[in-house]
Amino acid sequence: MAEKGQPPNTVLDVGCGTGRLLRKARKYWPEAQLIGVDPADGMIENARRLTPYAKFYVSQAESLPLPDESVNLAFSTASFHHWQDQEKGLREIKRVLQIGGLFFLADFWLPLGLSKIIRHFQSNNPSAIREAFRRAGFRGQDQRRLWTLWQVVTVGERC
Ligand SMILES: C[S@@+](CC[C@H](N)C(=O)[O-])C[C@H]1O[C@@H](n2cnc3c(N)ncnc32)[C@H](O)[C@@H]1O
Repeated sequence: MAEKGQPPNTVLDVGCGTGRLLRKARKYWPEAQLIGVDPADGMIENARRLTPYAKFYVSQAESLPLPDESVNLAFSTASFHHWQDQEKGLREIKRVLQIGGLFFLADFWLPLGLSKIIRHFQSNNPSAIREAFRRAGFRGQDQRRLWTLWQVVTVGERC
């Protein structure tokens, strides 16, 4: 079980790209085991080179190569709109998080008018994300829309 107020032991970045956020995480939690997952070989190759102290896997959100309840804190940035099966990805993150662990999801979203114009972009709908979090087994979802950056940040606790 993840302990509130304690630094995380294990931090997972889903869709980590070149590991940019894990390198930042290292500054906050130097003792934590850092793990990145991304389906793009090239991204992981660069991530390994730039972040030698972290573990990286070529895989996707929908099939995380990690044991059940093995992670205290998970996050994902600018990746969710790429996932082929977002609900499956959320269920996988719930599976690998310990009870009480937090998942922070930040991704782009387009208000309805714009998403009708820019059709090729799989826009996230903030209320649909909250509902998907709930269905996947996260509770107490907090959500903020960052209007200037067209980002929506959703936080869920694994229950
Ligand atoms: C715009 S990059 C963001 C990278 C990094 N999170 C960041 O903020 O710098 C999106 C990443 O999502 C990854 N991605 C695509 N489909 C994915 C999936 N199904 N599961 C996890 N990651 C995926 C891509 O390979 C890519 O590296």
